[in-house]
Amino acid sequence: MTATTTTTTPNPDPSGSPGLSDPVGEPPLLEVRNLTVTYGGGADAVPAVRGVDLRVEAGQKLGIAGESGCGKSTLALALLRLLPATAKLTGEILLDGEDVLTMKWGRLRAVRWAGASIVFQGAMHSLNAVHRVGDQIAEPLLLHSKATPAAARRRAGELLEQVGLPAARAQAYPHELSGGQRQRVMIAMALACDPRLIVADEPTTALDVMIQAQILRLIEQLVSDQNVGLIMISHDLAVLADTCDRLSVMYAGRVVEEGPARQVYTDARHPYGKALSAAFPRIGDLSSRHAPRGLPGDPPDPAALPGGCTFHPRCPVALDVCDTEDQELRDAGAERRAACVLVDVDGAHPDGAHPDAKDAHADGARPDAKGAHADAAQPGDDEARSTS
Ligand SMILES: Nc1ncnc2c1ncn2[C@@H]1O[C@H](COP(=O)(O)OP(=O)(O)OP(=O)(O)O)[C@@H](O)[C@H]1O
Ligand code: SF4
Ligand SMILES: [Mg+2]
Repeated sequence: MTATTTTTTPNPDPSGSPGLSDPVGEPPLLEVRNLTVTYGGGADAVPAVRGVDLRVEAGQKLGIAGESGCGKSTLALALLRLLPATAKLTGEILLDGEDVLTMKWGRLRAVRWAGASIVFQGAMHSLNAVHRVGDQIAEPLLLHSKATPAAARRRAGELLEQVGLPAARAQAYPHELSGGQRQRVMIAMALACDPRLIVADEPTTALDVMIQAQILRLIEQLVSDQNVGLIMISHDLAVLADTCDRLSVMYAGRVVEEGPARQVYTDARHPYGKALSAAFPRIGDLSSRHAPRGLPGDPPDPAALPGGCTFHPRCPVALDVCDTEDQELRDAGAERRAACVLVDVDGAHPDGAHPDAKDAHADGARPDAKGAHADAAQPGDDEARSTS
C-alpha cells in the first residue's frame, strides 16, 4: 500500500455536516478528507474510493450504505491501513487529529485496536477454529495492552459478559457457538483494548432477524455506555436508519447523499438514495411494503465508470446534462447534502420524473437503462408507492 497526502488546502469542515459538535481546539474523533483508494495501476487501475469526506464524533453513530462493490469495505479497511500493498491512498484520515496515512508503523500498531478496531465483514468465519474463543479475545490484550496472561484471561471473561455471554464460554471453540454468539465474540474482541472508534462492516449480515436485532441493540448500548464512535456499514438502509444518527450513501466510490439517518431513509434527496430506501420496507408502514422494489441495472464497474453523473445510466429522472456533468455534493436542506443536479439549496428534490427528464416515462425507469424492467423502483414516487 502506498500512502500519499494531498496538497490541497484543508477544508475546515469537509463533511459538510452541520449540527455536529465541534468544540474549539478539539479535533473530531475521526475526520476523513478527500480520501481516494485505487487498487492496482495503469489500464487495470480500480478507483474503489473517489474523494470521500467523513466525520465522526465520540458517541456518534454513522451509517454507510450502498450496493455491493461501491467501496464500503475498502473505505473501512483504509481507515486503519489494512488494505493490500496494491492499494494506493491519497487524502487524510485524521484520528484524534493524527493522520493515519502518515503514521510510522509502530504508532499505527498502537492505534489499531486501542484507537480504532474493526468488526470485519464475514466476521463469523474469521475466528480461528483451533483456538478457544477466550484465548482469541485475550490475544490483543497481551499484544497491545501488555496485560499478564492471568489479567488478559480475566478481562476476556468480563468482555464476554459485557456482550451477553457467560464468562465460562471463554473455554468454547468457535464451532461450539451459534452464529449470533460468534458475532458477540467478535464484538468482544473489538472492544478488548477500549477503542475510541469501532468500525462494524456488515456486522449482522447472515444472522436471522431476531439475532440481528439483538446484536444491533448490543452495539448501540456499548456505544452509548462507552461514548465511542461507531461507523456501521451495511447495504440495508433500514437497519442503518434504525441504529445510526447520520447516514452516508455511497455510489461508485463516492458519497452521493448524507444527512440525519431517519431523514435520509424516509425522504432521500438523491434518486439513488430514494431507490435504495425503497428497496427496504419500513416497519409499520404498509404502503412501503407494497412499493415496487429493486433498482434496474447493475452498479458500474469501477474500472470503467460512466462519464458525468455516474448514476445517470440507471437514473429514472436524468437530464441531458447528467451524461456529461460530474456532480459534487451540494446543500440539500438542513444538515443534508446530495450530489444531484436536481437538488437545490433549499432542499427541493426530484419527486418523480422531472419535466425535463430526457427519458421520463410512465414507470419512471429510462427505457435505455441497463436492466430496466416494469416493476423498477421509482425514486421519489411516494404516491405510486401508497396506491400500488
Ligand atoms: N484487493 C482488491 N484488488 C482489486 N480490486 C478490489 C480489491 N478489493 C476490492 N476491489 C474492488 O473494489 C471495489 C469496491 O469493493 P468493496 O469490497 O470495497 O465493496 P463493498 O461496497 O464493500 O461491497 P460489498 O457490499 O459486496 O461488501 C469493487 O469493484 C471490488 O471489486
Ligand atoms: S438527475 Fe442527473 S445528477 Fe441527479 S442522480 Fe440522476 S443522473 Fe445523477
Ligand atoms: Mg464489503
